[in-house]
Amino acid sequence: MGSDIAYPPFEYTDEKTGKYVGFDIDLMTEIAKRMGLEVKFVNTAWDGIIPGLTSKKYDVICSAMTITEERAKQVDFSDPYFEAKQVIIARADSNINGVQDLEGKVVAVQQGTTGDFAAMRLVDEKGIKFKIVRFEGTPEALMAIQKGDADAAIIDNFVAYLAVKENPDIYKVVEDKEFAPEYYGIAVNKDNPGLLKKINEVLKEIKQDGTYDKIYNKWFGEE
Ligand code: ARG
Repeated sequence: MGSDIAYPPFEYTDEKTGKYVGFDIDLMTEIAKRMGLEVKFVNTAWDGIIPGLTSKKYDVICSAMTITEERAKQVDFSDPYFEAKQVIIARADSNINGVQDLEGKVVAVQQGTTGDFAAMRLVDEKGIKFKIVRFEGTPEALMAIQKGDADAAIIDNFVAYLAVKENPDIYKVVEDKEFAPEYYGIAVNKDNPGLLKKINEVLKEIKQDGTYDKIYNKWFGEE
């Protein structure tokens, strides 16, 4: 499994154990187990994660990857396994309260993500003029806000919620109706329909028998 493992709570390295952990890690471990397989994780830069799949460095991508038409031209996606959306994450003391307030600001994104695409749409189609700064990883985009190099970032909602939970004095989340729902899928090579079919069967099974909910609550449930 290829994944950009710097994306808590979906995939990240546990500082104490050095192990890869997160929702996607648990999900794929469970899917593999039910297929009688053991999953091996390949930490991959987001930029190049799809070429890594098509060149067979790994058999699947599970990396909080949003199913998009453009990506579906290159890879096949499983049934959706998670609903998400973009949000703005801004400095806690900022006056940004919606997409209109991004006018004139500096907005960080992880390059090539749906946050990047959403930022471009706001500039090109909504005519909200701001500067987009692109980073290879989401942690760097968040760091840019903290350092004052960016006013805000546009990222996936649950990643933003966790950052705010951990650092409420640094960040705040700003939701906006402008951002539509997105769905994460597991990506598989187009010449591997057997694997895709199996993954979808197991996904359905674990949704029905409560295992999916168990994994979901472990990472997103109330404490
Ligand atoms: N959901 C977004 C997308 O598909 C961001 C995913 C980034 N994932 C990661 N592991 N860095 O574009």
